Amino acid sequence: MTKRPIIIDTDPGIDDAVALAIALFSDELEVRLITTVAGNVSLDKVTMNALRLLKFFGKDVPVAMGAARPLIKEPIDASDIHGSSGMDGYEFEEPTKDLVLSENAVNAMYRVLMDSKEPVTLVPIGPLTNIALLVKLYPEVKDKIAEIVLMGGSTTRGNAGVMAEFNIYADPEAAKIVFHSGVPLVMVGLDVGWKALVYPEDSARLKDMNETGRMLYQLFQKYRGGGLKTGLKMYDSCAIAYLLQPGMFEAVETFVDVEVAGTLTAGCTVVDLKNYLGRPSNAKVCVDIDPQQFKQWFLDSLRKCN
Ligand code: BDR
Ligand code: CA
Repeated sequence: MTKRPIIIDTDPGIDDAVALAIALFSDELEVRLITTVAGNVSLDKVTMNALRLLKFFGKDVPVAMGAARPLIKEPIDASDIHGSSGMDGYEFEEPTKDLVLSENAVNAMYRVLMDSKEPVTLVPIGPLTNIALLVKLYPEVKDKIAEIVLMGGSTTRGNAGVMAEFNIYADPEAAKIVFHSGVPLVMVGLDVGWKALVYPEDSARLKDMNETGRMLYQLFQKYRGGGLKTGLKMYDSCAIAYLLQPGMFEAVETFVDVEVAGTLTAGCTVVDLKNYLGRPSNAKVCVDIDPQQFKQWFLDSLRKCN
């Protein structure tokens, strides 16, 4: 089977760690490059976390460092959710920096895309700064991108502001550029992330599953994306789930814009489900997910890990 080539742009992040585990051990995906972006914690920290995970998994995927700050606004972080390291809860072995490319994330993505025989899918699961820079600096890459399947946004309320989801809120201007890029785009946002839940009985199964399961179990003890009892939210894994099992989602083609000027709503994704604005659709938006199918897929996928 030919694997689908992807680039993951990430800010690990505990739920990013889960998404990376699933993608790296999938028989259907070929992760050609991992790019990092400041988000959950600083660029240096998220890059170290990506390297720690790769060493833990025994995978040699090149890593390129991207933006250390958003395009315009001041940086924020989510260390209240993921801990001050970004992946609190597990003592990883310290990795070398051998996998880190000398190229920055934007140039590395450009090279991988232009060198690829087939279009490559971009999977951003952090703020969209790197992707915005890529499509602005190198618009010719757009033809080489199969689609962008991103975790971010919401059709309703937010988790970083009243109306704003964290990855969009962290860099609204970048998100606006990406939504207007003309590249086919799938938005996998809070509407589904809030239903992709891991409960204590699922965590208990992970603990005895394999080394990866044990590691994730320990990270989950510190993760504050949801509650241990009420369900931990596996936001970023939803983007990987969409790649591998889109049938578990309900998605609609619609127009999406990003509020950048709102005094109360900056970082809000304006998802025009009823076409008030009369604009052509620029995204496929996941509006629902089958939680049972997600759970099954999630556990089956993690069983393939080391
Ligand atoms: C997103 O915010 C981050 O904290 C998570 O890693 C995820 O990408 C969810 O809103
Ligand atoms: Ca993330």
